[in-house]
Amino acid sequence: MAAGRGWGLLALCGALSACCWLLCAEAAELEAGAGARRRRRLSQEDSISFEYHRYPELREALVAVWLQCPSISRIYTVGRSFEGRELLVIEISDNPGRHEPGEPEFKYIGNMHGNEAVGRELLIFLAQYLCNEYQKGNETIMNLIHSTRIHIMPSLNPDGFEKAASQPGELKDWFVGRSNAQGIDLNRNFPDLDRIVYVNEREGGPNNHLLKNMRKAVDQNPKLAPETKSIIHWIMDIPFVLSANLHGGDLVANYPYDETRSGSTHEYSSCPDDAIFQSLARGYSSFNPAMSDPNRPPCRKNDDDSSFVDGTTNGGAWYSVPGGMQDFNYLSSNCFEITVELSCEKFPSEESLKSYWGDNKNSLVNYIEQVHRGVKGFVRDLQGNPIANATISVEGINHDITSGGISDLIRD
Ligand SMILES: *[C@@H]1O[C@H](CO)[C@@H](O)[C@H](O)[C@H]1NC(C)=O
Ligand SMILES: *[C@@H]1O[C@H](CO)[C@@H](O)[C@H](O)[C@H]1NC(C)=O
Ligand SMILES: [Zn+2]
Repeated sequence: MAAGRGWGLLALCGALSACCWLLCAEAAELEAGAGARRRRRLSQEDSISFEYHRYPELREALVAVWLQCPSISRIYTVGRSFEGRELLVIEISDNPGRHEPGEPEFKYIGNMHGNEAVGRELLIFLAQYLCNEYQKGNETIMNLIHSTRIHIMPSLNPDGFEKAASQPGELKDWFVGRSNAQGIDLNRNFPDLDRIVYVNEREGGPNNHLLKNMRKAVDQNPKLAPETKSIIHWIMDIPFVLSANLHGGDLVANYPYDETRSGSTHEYSSCPDDAIFQSLARGYSSFNPAMSDPNRPPCRKNDDDSSFVDGTTNGGAWYSVPGGMQDFNYLSSNCFEITVELSCEKFPSEESLKSYWGDNKNSLVNYIEQVHRGVKGFVRDLQGNPIANATISVEGINHDITSGGISDLIRD
């Protein structure tokens, strides 16, 4: 845009030397901004910049969405990384900052492994897209925003991302930046509630809300990374009901349990809501043409994709993950989370980001919409007063949920 204005002025001013100061100022500004804007001109569309965002640029991108759509967005932080970067969230809803009874809470988390970069960028694009479409009056998006509180955290591991992105050249190492700055793999760092549940399955005992009244124990546990503690508090503070954790390195939507019962490396590990989870995972994969392609060759020749069905897999059937965030959500709260692997490459070329957005846009929107499936309602006593902390059981599903602090309940 600056370039167009400059040339227009040039034509208009012609030989008029009085114009020179203006032109010179324009030229200087162009020069200064050229580096930063170079790629944007190539790949910007509808104010979505299809490029990698380093930490300051991530902040700027979220602030830009907030400035464009202040009435439906809010930026907040759930804590800081080990090196002190903020774990930023942009909330998109018709009443930002407030839980409304009957309105389900949804979250997307990206970039938990700092070198798995596609999810981080897709979530920035998604926030901008939701804002754009809302302003254009897109009914699907307006309905979604009016009926859902959507929380988007593009990066849970901003330290790891900076490390990964700082490597010179396009080709990034497969592991550099995966862990947080302390060298902790965040998706192995959550309290291993699966082990408790598997014991309880044999000996009797609950299989849900296993972290009740454990705030202090969480805060005092020296093994938990600051990023992990922040997420645990976030999960306990907000009555989320649906979530996805975006990773990279493969192409599949993965659902609980991630950790196998026997401890073996590969074993289908169903949770009580297996059927619902299969359908939620399909709700993501089926809108992504690459992920759901039955003839897609494995990402790497020797990869074992035998557990993949329609672009989905049970976590344990693929490979066992103890201490992951997905199972933690399910076993500590009312939140159902899946883990989505978005790309064969963890840190693909910047030029490919636009096509990843094309492949995932409908999946990302449709997955949020699934928060409105299932049973919804309020728990009240005989006089009609709301009851908080009621336990709700569904016949045939051995996994209870509770009503939220202000008595609403949503079960997917
Ligand atoms: C409105 O948003 C939906 C969901 O992203 C999309 O499928 C649809 O194409 C959009 N409508 C228009 C007119 O762009
Ligand atoms: C619900 O239970 C939690 C944890 O047991 C407690 O902190 C909270 O105060 C309870 N809420 C109400 C409204 O009783
Ligand atoms: Zn990962």
